[in-house]
Amino acid sequence: MRTTKLKVKNLNSNYSIIIGKNVLNKISNQIKILCPGTQKIALVVDKNVPKKFKIKIKKSLKKYKIYIFEYDVNEKFKSLANVNMLVEKCLAQNFNRNDVLISLGGGILGDFSAFAASMIKRGINFVNIPTTLLAQVDSSIGGKTGVNSIRGKNLIGSFYQPKLVISDVEILKSLPERELVCGYAEILKHALILKNNFFKWLNHNSKKLLKNKDSNLLKKAVLESCKVKLHFVNKDIFEKNIRMTLNFGHTFAHAIEAQNKYSKRINHGEAVIMGMMMAAKLSYLKKVCSLNTLNQLKNIYNSNGLKYDIKKFFKKNEYIKILNYMRADKKNNDKKINLILLKKIGQTTRPNNYKIASTELKRLFYKII
Ligand SMILES: NC(=O)c1ccc[n+]([C@@H]2O[C@H](COP(=O)([O-])OP(=O)(O)OC[C@H]3O[C@@H](n4cnc5c(N)ncnc54)[C@H](O)[C@@H]3O)[C@@H](O)[C@H]2O)c1
Repeated sequence: MRTTKLKVKNLNSNYSIIIGKNVLNKISNQIKILCPGTQKIALVVDKNVPKKFKIKIKKSLKKYKIYIFEYDVNEKFKSLANVNMLVEKCLAQNFNRNDVLISLGGGILGDFSAFAASMIKRGINFVNIPTTLLAQVDSSIGGKTGVNSIRGKNLIGSFYQPKLVISDVEILKSLPERELVCGYAEILKHALILKNNFFKWLNHNSKKLLKNKDSNLLKKAVLESCKVKLHFVNKDIFEKNIRMTLNFGHTFAHAIEAQNKYSKRINHGEAVIMGMMMAAKLSYLKKVCSLNTLNQLKNIYNSNGLKYDIKKFFKKNEYIKILNYMRADKKNNDKKINLILLKKIGQTTRPNNYKIASTELKRLFYKII
């Protein structure tokens, strides 16, 4: 398999995303080129990542002084207190701006480590090695870092760009199917919002991608997905406008997650799957998309066993609470709910162009679930 290097260049950043199979051995040479003054490296590791990858990285970086920090991750771990602990440990070893912090883990560890890297002496070099499909196609791109507050998810953070991202599809082989689906939800979203051809490709290949974890298919899906995310991020780094298109389905999804109290019963990707279908049904009801478009989406859901029936998870009296969470969404800039709707496969409404009163959404709610 050929390795692909995607260049990310915008006002705020200039780095590469290396995508391929067995590409971890590239790290030593890349650090030598990108961070020539490096002496110390903090390797921050998610304990669920198979040990062989940590050992491989450690071996290839043997000329540096390596400090390994391993964590059991979950959303509770993603806290300012834990960032502070990691920052203090690096400061105790006298890390400076020439040194490097590497994250080897999923989206939680990536957000956490990047935030820590941005805090140490106002920013040391950060390298991300995403190990979940979601992290490879979504969270490792775009420079959003951060941790959770007791007041909500990802409320404390910064924009901080990596020096390098290495996405090795071999790391994904140990992922549980549920986690794979989580990343697939974002891949599907990327196809829906920008690339009809990619959607057609997914129609043919999703089953093999999800069931067989075929390396070639995974690589193609990661690459195409990264391109779509970068298309929006490069135009609007600080999420003032067009980047919000990436939120397709997410206003519903975040409300579902909040009503689910972020429990493991529904993970983020599963909420996105439900949210995208609700947004698509609303698009059809409001005549923004055709029945054919909605049916194309239903077909890909059904043929891949994607569950979108929120009635199985929530009682009737909880629907209003989901709506209330949507009313409080941070993208709303007046009393209405600001949504991205689907026009056709590969095209959405523009950010801030579709808003719905909560009373109307309440009236339509039963038709979109
Ligand atoms: N920064 C952004 O732009 C952005 C975008 C989307 C999501 N996020 C954040 O990403 C987080 C979710 O990320 P995620 O879905 O990767 O979850 P995660 O980091 O919790 O990983 C999911 C699970 O997989 C395990 N795991 C990781 N790599 C593995 C591997 N190779 N083999 C086996 N198990 C492995 C983890 O230990 C965890 O149990 C959330 O906190 C979310 O807020 C950030």
